Amino acid sequence: MNPYLRKNLEAITPYTIDTTPYEVYLHANENPFNPFRDLKEEIMSALFQCNGNRYPSINAAPLRQALARDLNLLEDQIICGNGSDEILQMILQAFIDPGDPIVSLSPTFGMYRIFAEIQGANFIPVEANPETLQSSLVELTKRANEEKAKLIVICNPNNPTGQGFTKKEILTLVHETKSLVLVDEAYMEFYGETLIDQTMNHPRLIVTRTFSKAFGLAGIRVGYGIANPSLIEALDRVRAPYNLNAASQTIAMVALKNRLLFDKQVAFLLQERNRLETSLKDYPGVSLFPSEANFLLVRTENAVDIETACKKSSIQIRGYQSAGLLKNCLRISVGKPEENDRLLQIFQEVHA
Ligand SMILES: Cc1ncc(COP(=O)(O)O)c(C=O)c1O
Repeated sequence: MNPYLRKNLEAITPYTIDTTPYEVYLHANENPFNPFRDLKEEIMSALFQCNGNRYPSINAAPLRQALARDLNLLEDQIICGNGSDEILQMILQAFIDPGDPIVSLSPTFGMYRIFAEIQGANFIPVEANPETLQSSLVELTKRANEEKAKLIVICNPNNPTGQGFTKKEILTLVHETKSLVLVDEAYMEFYGETLIDQTMNHPRLIVTRTFSKAFGLAGIRVGYGIANPSLIEALDRVRAPYNLNAASQTIAMVALKNRLLFDKQVAFLLQERNRLETSLKDYPGVSLFPSEANFLLVRTENAVDIETACKKSSIQIRGYQSAGLLKNCLRISVGKPEENDRLLQIFQEVHA
């Protein structure tokens, strides 16, 4: 242990993943279609216009303007970052003091806890029903008020369960609490329900979004936050200048101009999700949780065998066997049809 390390980082282990190369990646909820194929000319020509010798816009102004037009918001309501992870971290840095209570779902996206622990916050997970893995926002509201939460974090739809919350449910939580409310809409494009149009009248509400999922740009690292300008101004205090590089901004703007292409891919992936659900639900001992995102959470007694068989066939999925509520669960991203076929083949072989 490094003797100079801050005390509250001692218990944190760096985020690690299996970096073995695979043929099929169904573990990270990415879009399986690479936009560099469809938009090659447009991306190359836009990149060629970038002045690589100059710093980019200090606060990603061109991308913020494009997002504002696309989403019918004010530019001052938007902040951009190096993936939505950076926005999440900025939110915690700007608003959370050591010891502040943060209430969130469990299970949910693991980085909320990590960023909370880096700040020295008191992270309080409110567990889902162990059978259905469904979380209740009524329970979250009650706990947030009991704990006097500084921040409530809701992932909508939730990773890894796929559970979607309605706008009405979330607004009720906002009205019945005094906390800041962060709604992570990383998978929103697969669901449709959003709170962004509520950010102007609710100065305690922050929404985060990403280009990593529906827009197929996980490798380019672009995310954004939407909130009342007073909250964005607070986030700007912790944002490093030029935090989003010119190439990523440029590529994200090309993607935004081609929204229709991604809308079609989303519709196609939702059909594939239905096909996977229909094929998987009848296997004995397999339970599927209803998903509003581009992945499925599956609970099965054969989880270890399926994960091992996937590895052998060079398919990467996300297994959680050892972890409490997610015991025997597998999270599987929706891939291209031929990738999904390979996954289904594994289920067939393991259950033969
Ligand atoms: C719910 C959720 N939020 C945020 C992220 C981070 O995405 P990115 O930093 O690529 O925008 C992820 C990535 O898997 C996620 O699942």
